[in-house]
Amino acid sequence: MNKTGSGAAVRAEAARVIDTVAVQGRSLDVALSQADRQTDPQDRALLHMLCYGTLRNHWRLRWFIVQLLDKPLKSQDRIVESLLAVGLFQLLESRVPDHAAVSLTVEATRRLRRPKFAPLVNAVLRNFRRIGLATVEPAEEEARFNHPAWLIERLKQDWPSHWRQIVDANNGRGPMWLRVNAKKVSRPDYMERLQGAQDQGAGPPGQHETLDGFPQGIRLEEPRPVRELPGFADGLVSVQDAAAQLAAPWLLAEGGMRILDACAAPGGKAAHLLELAGPGASLMAIDADAGRMSRVGENLERLGLVATLKVADASRPEGWWDGELFDRILIDAPCSGTGVIRRHPDIKLLRRNADIGVNARLQLDLLSALWPLLAPGGRLLYVTCSVLSAENDEVITRFLREQPGATEEQVLPNYNIRDLMHRRVRGFQILPGGADLDGFYFACLDKKGRTTG
Ligand SMILES: C[S@@+](CC[C@H](N)C(=O)[O-])C[C@H]1O[C@@H](n2cnc3c(N)ncnc32)[C@H](O)[C@@H]1O
Repeated sequence: MNKTGSGAAVRAEAARVIDTVAVQGRSLDVALSQADRQTDPQDRALLHMLCYGTLRNHWRLRWFIVQLLDKPLKSQDRIVESLLAVGLFQLLESRVPDHAAVSLTVEATRRLRRPKFAPLVNAVLRNFRRIGLATVEPAEEEARFNHPAWLIERLKQDWPSHWRQIVDANNGRGPMWLRVNAKKVSRPDYMERLQGAQDQGAGPPGQHETLDGFPQGIRLEEPRPVRELPGFADGLVSVQDAAAQLAAPWLLAEGGMRILDACAAPGGKAAHLLELAGPGASLMAIDADAGRMSRVGENLERLGLVATLKVADASRPEGWWDGELFDRILIDAPCSGTGVIRRHPDIKLLRRNADIGVNARLQLDLLSALWPLLAPGGRLLYVTCSVLSAENDEVITRFLREQPGATEEQVLPNYNIRDLMHRRVRGFQILPGGADLDGFYFACLDKKGRTTG
C-alpha cells in the first residue's frame, strides 16, 4: 500500500473522510479506519484532529463556503467543498500556521485529482482571512451553533434553560476517563502506578483527577493511546466515560445474582457489572450485532471476566431465553447518541429527526419484551446516551402506564451525584459538559414482589 506522509496527503485524506461522512452518510469511525490505513502512523493524530474539528464545525464552515463561492460546485467536484471545509477549519481553530494551512490545502487538490481547483482553493482561503469572515456571526442558528435545525429545536423544547450548555458541550472535546478494574486493583494503587509510569517518562502526562461519586473513575488531563496506560493489557483498567460508570453500581446497589445485559456491545457496562458483582453472580450479555459482540468477548478476556454471550435480538426472548428469571436487567438502549456528540461529531450529520420516533418504538419494545424476564423484587435499569425526552422520560412514562407491576425507584444510588442529576418527569439526566461528563439518562424500575437476589 502506498503510504504517504506529506501534509498535503493528510489534508486530501481528511477531505475524503469528510466527504464519506457528510455526502455518503457513513460513520466517522468507519471512514477514519479506512483513512488510517492510507496514512503514515505519525500523521494519524493530525488526520483525526482535522476530521473531528471539521465535523464539529460543519455548519459554520459550510456557511463560510457559501459566502466565499460565487456558486456551488458541481456534484462530481463536491469533494473540493469538503477540502475547503478542512482548509477553513485550520484557519479558524487549529494551531497550524496560516501559510502552511493554505499551501498544503491547495496542494491537496492535486492529491484529489482536481488540480484545476488549486487557484480557487487558494483564493477562497486567502479571502477568508482578508475579509475577516471568522469574526462574522451568522444569522442562521445552524451555522451559529453548529447543529442541525431539527436538533436545535428539540433541545430548546426539552431543555429551555440548558440547551446552550448542551450545544456548547457538544461542540467541545471529551476528556479521557478510565475505570479501574475493582476485581484486580484499587483506585489509589492504580493512581500510584500512573504516577510511577509518569515519573519514568512512560505514562500519560498531566494531572490524574477523581470525582466524588465515581469510585472507579480517573480523569486524565491528556488523552493517550491505551498502550501507554500501565497494566492495560493485563486488564487493570478500561476507558469509559465517568457518566457511563454510574450504570453498574446503580443496578447492583442491592446485590443480584443473575444479571442480563440486553444491549451489551462493546461491553463497557457488562465488564463493569462483572467487576462489581458479588461472588457467584452470572451475567448473560446479548447484542444484535455480531461484529460488535466480538469486541465484548475481547474486552472481557483482557479484563479476566467471564459471561455468557449471545448474538440475538433482545426484543425477541423466545429465540434465546432459557426460562430462568433474572434478578437484574440492564437495557442500555440503542438511541440517537445526542449525549455523546462531543465524542462522535458525525452524529450531528447522520441522525435525522424521523429516527427519534423509530428509536422510541424500539426502546419501548425492548422494555416490554424484557420486563417479563425480571424476577419479582428484581430491578431493571434503563439507560440511554440521549438527551431527548422522546427517547427517555417519555418512553418510561408510557412503559409505566402499561405496567402496573413496575415502580420507579427515585432515590439516587449515591448522594455525591445529586448536583449532576437533572430530575425528569421520570428518571434522571446527566447533561453533556456538566462536570465534563457525557450526557446519559437513567431510569431505575423495580418489580413488585419478593426479592430473590
Ligand atoms: C448503547 S449501545 C450499548 C453499549 C454497551 N452497553 C456498553 O456499555 O459498552 C447499544 C447496543 O444495542 C445493540 N442493539 C440494538 N438493537 C438491539 C436489539 N434489538 N437487541 C439487542 N441488541 C441491540 C446495538 O448493536 C448496540 O451495540
